[in-house]
Amino acid sequence: MKHIIAPSILAADFANLQRDIEMINASEADWFHVDVMDGVFVPNLSFGFPVLEAVKKYATKPLDVHLMIVNPDQYIERFAQAGAAIITVHYEACTHLHRTIQAIHLAGCKAGVALNPHTPIILLKDIIADLDLVLIMSVNPGFGGQKFIPNTFNKISELKALALRLNPELIIEVDGGVNLQNIKSLLAAGADAFVAGSAIFAELYPVQVIADMKNTNKDSMEA
Ligand code: DX5
Ligand code: ZN
Repeated sequence: MKHIIAPSILAADFANLQRDIEMINASEADWFHVDVMDGVFVPNLSFGFPVLEAVKKYATKPLDVHLMIVNPDQYIERFAQAGAAIITVHYEACTHLHRTIQAIHLAGCKAGVALNPHTPIILLKDIIADLDLVLIMSVNPGFGGQKFIPNTFNKISELKALALRLNPELIIEVDGGVNLQNIKSLLAAGADAFVAGSAIFAELYPVQVIADMKNTNKDSMEA
């Protein structure tokens, strides 16, 4: 399977959201990454259902919804109705994670679990077989434009080994500080899906950055 590029609309121009969505539609990107923050789980607020629904109205690719919120259970049905294809909840925010994953599947969505930089991979051992995706945070969640944390490489390799044993279909997604400089090494470590916000939207030619990310090959000679 070719790797997945998921531009994060957190870095889009909200005054020109339709334009930016259409740019992603026309690009080689695979998903729209949608960051929902509640000001409690993370020290920032982003947006909620009205914006998600607005994105859904124009997006022609699946919505990959990353919930940085406490008590996600109470909103799963609404996120599914608003158009989420994938719902990812944080390990650190879910007391009854297995129940939450069941609820996401029952709502007709693919289910993901995100891990903060300090959360060990091994904590997923008894849930990994039930997941479609694991999102490794490579920055502390809450803000775009932060510096990539290098220990992410170890976590991806460790997760890849666990997934090969317990869930070979698992999608390994990496989120935070991903750019054209580190995507090749992340691919080599075992990541399948790449979220990128500032590395795409801060550039003059975002469609070209997306194409370059999509066409990066872990085995090629060039950097
Ligand atoms: C951070 C979010 C990310 C963010 C990534 O909490 O989960 O999805 O938008 O932005 P960059 O690529 O700029 O680090
Ligand atoms: Zn995210």
